[in-house]
This record gives sequence, C-alpha cells and structure tokens, in this order.
Amino acid sequence: MRLRLEGVRKFFGDFEALKGISFEVDHGELFFILGPSGCGKTTTLRVIAGFYIPDEGRVYFDDRDVTFTPPYKRNIGMVFQYYALWPHMTVYDNVAYGLKIRGLPEREIRERVRWALELVKLEEHAKKYPNQLSGGQQQRVALARALVVEPQILLLDEPLSNLDAKLRIEMREEIKRLQNRLKITTVYVTHDQMEALSMADRIAVMNDGLIMQIGTPVELYRKPRNRFVASFIGEINMFEGELVGREGDFAVVELDGNTVKGVPTAEIPHSRVAVAFRPEAASVVKEGGGGNVLEGEVESSMYYGSKETVFVKTDFGMVKVEMFNPRGRVARRGERVRVVFDPSDTIVLP
Ligand SMILES: Nc1ncnc2c1ncn2[C@@H]1O[C@H](COP(=O)(O)OP(=O)(O)OP(=O)(O)O)[C@@H](O)[C@H]1O
Ligand SMILES: [Mg+2]
Repeated sequence: MRLRLEGVRKFFGDFEALKGISFEVDHGELFFILGPSGCGKTTTLRVIAGFYIPDEGRVYFDDRDVTFTPPYKRNIGMVFQYYALWPHMTVYDNVAYGLKIRGLPEREIRERVRWALELVKLEEHAKKYPNQLSGGQQQRVALARALVVEPQILLLDEPLSNLDAKLRIEMREEIKRLQNRLKITTVYVTHDQMEALSMADRIAVMNDGLIMQIGTPVELYRKPRNRFVASFIGEINMFEGELVGREGDFAVVELDGNTVKGVPTAEIPHSRVAVAFRPEAASVVKEGGGGNVLEGEVESSMYYGSKETVFVKTDFGMVKVEMFNPRGRVARRGERVRVVFDPSDTIVLP
C-alpha cells in the first residue's frame, strides 16, 4: 500500500507542531523520518495512524482519503516509542491481544500468533512474562504485536531506543530483513542518523515541524540542500564565504582572500554562501596538493591505527580531517600544513 501526506498541519493550542508536511511512501518502502527531539516525528506518525486528525491537509492510503478514518479501521501496526508491554500478560497474550479484540476465532489467533512469534524468533518464549525477557526480546514482542494483525502499513517510533549499542545494531539488521521479506510499507522514526543511513530506502529529515529534505541516504549525505541537513547528518566542516563566480558545474567562493570551488546543491539566491566538506574527504599534506587548499597549523592529532584524526586551525576556523589507513603519523601538533580537498567533494550551500 502507498502512503501519502499532503500539506499536513497540526496545532496543539497555539503551538504549530506540524507546519505543512508532505511526502509519499511507496509500496514496500522502508521510509525514515529523522530529526531532533521535538521536531514533530511522533506527531506525524500519530496522524498517519489516525490518533490525531490534522487541522489542515490530507492523508491517503493508495488513493483512499483516510484523513478522518478512525485508527481501528486503518489496518496499521505500530510500535510505540515506549513500547509498553502488558506486564501481567504472557508473551503469547500480549501478541494475541489485538486479534482477540477483533474477535477472531481462537484457532486463527493461535496460528497467527505462532507465525508472528516465529518471525521474531520468540516461539520458545510464548509462556514467559515480559519481566522474564531481555530488552531485545521485549522489543521483538512489541514488533510481533504490531505485525500479527498483518498491517498494510507499519509504523515504528524509535523502536530501538531502549537497547544497548550492540543489540541495536543486531536489531537493525533483523528489522531490515523482516521488512524486506514482508514487503510492508514502513515508516520508521528515529533521531539516530546512523540507524537511518544504514537502513533506509529514503529519509525525510525534519526540523521544527517542517521537512527539510527527502532523499536516499547517499543523496542526503553527499548532496544536502541546506545547512541544517548538512550538519545534522554526519560531521562536516563549514565556512561562510562569498560567491564570486561559476566555472562549469562549480561555484567559485571567496573565503577571506582564499578561493575554493564546490558543487552547489540548491538554488543560491544571494552571494552569502557556506562552503562545506566532510572530514574524510580531506587530507593533510606538508606541501603541494591540487584542488581546494586551506593552510593552517595542526592543533591536535590522534592516531587510531585505522585512521588519524587531525584538527587544523586555519584563518577561517577549525577544520577536522580524517585520514584512513595511514601508513605512519601524518601530522603533529604545531606543524604548518595544508588541508586539501577535491572540489567535487565540496558543497556550496545558500
Ligand atoms: N499532546 C500534545 N500537547 C501539546 N503539545 C504537544 C503534544 N504532543 C506533542 N506536542 C509538542 O509538539 C512538538 C512535537 O512533538 P513530537 O512528540 O512529535 O516530537 P518528536 O519529534 O517525536 O520528539 P522526540 O524525538 O523527543 O520523541 C513538541 O514540541 C511537543 O512538545
Ligand atoms: Mg517522539
């Protein structure tokens, strides 16, 4: 099933939590909403699920307008941000609950609960209570509970936030595999950029009730269209400059007497711009170097074996550089060096 939001606005009193949200999710797509705390992620999910009716705008499932359809008629599975399981019910009963209230016959309930528990590999734990399970297992019960109703749309709200780092990475793969196998249209909310980059088909980056950009992980990382997306996803060096010209696909930018080139990722309405590049796109050399060059002094350098991280103080501010697979120490504190980076790895933002 396809999902489409069109110009959705939602107020809480005078406060506008969603300021006109539009996006479309394809059938079977794993679509992420990524953004800082309070930007409106959960509110968006609640609009999709039907717990909130938008003050303006429309929600469509395929071509059906469901804006005013109550939640129980939407056939949605949801894992809530705080996936409260009922502590006095066994795993089986937690998962069966949604089917019981729909009045399904006992035999069908048994079959579907078994199917859902197998999906999340918890068949052996059906008789346990939630407090007898690990965090990851409880997480999977919540997932089974959402999937058992065979929803056409799956909504996941920070489903891994209560897990430790290692389990989180395991569960990422597991959810991705499951989603892929079931081909179920999924909206996954997180504020964890690595979760979004590593799992998503596409991501909508949200801030302050608005969508800042929608794209594939590669598009968002390589071609962020504004400063918020550039700095929210991954690390980036960013400087203020002035647009002074064009050279083919490149914009030429002056940074206090120094000229650098980069790729504009959006319309540039005025000459004040930002120049940005990722730490891993630059390297530190003692002399020479083509492309863009910024001179400076090494502030600090840390060697990790697999990489060396160098901070260079330039006239424009501190630059972070990460060089992978170093064959020896590249830079030491106090040295004069040149930070070099390719114009095609440099972006110019309004
Ligand atoms: N029921 C409500 N009444 C009043 N304000 C609300 C209500 N629900 C959410 N808000 C406000 O709307 C904004 C968006 O909230 P929302 O829960 O959607 O954020 P979020 O992006 O999910 O954040 P987090 O990452 O912290 O879960 C917040 O400023 C919040 O305080
Ligand atoms: Mg939330």
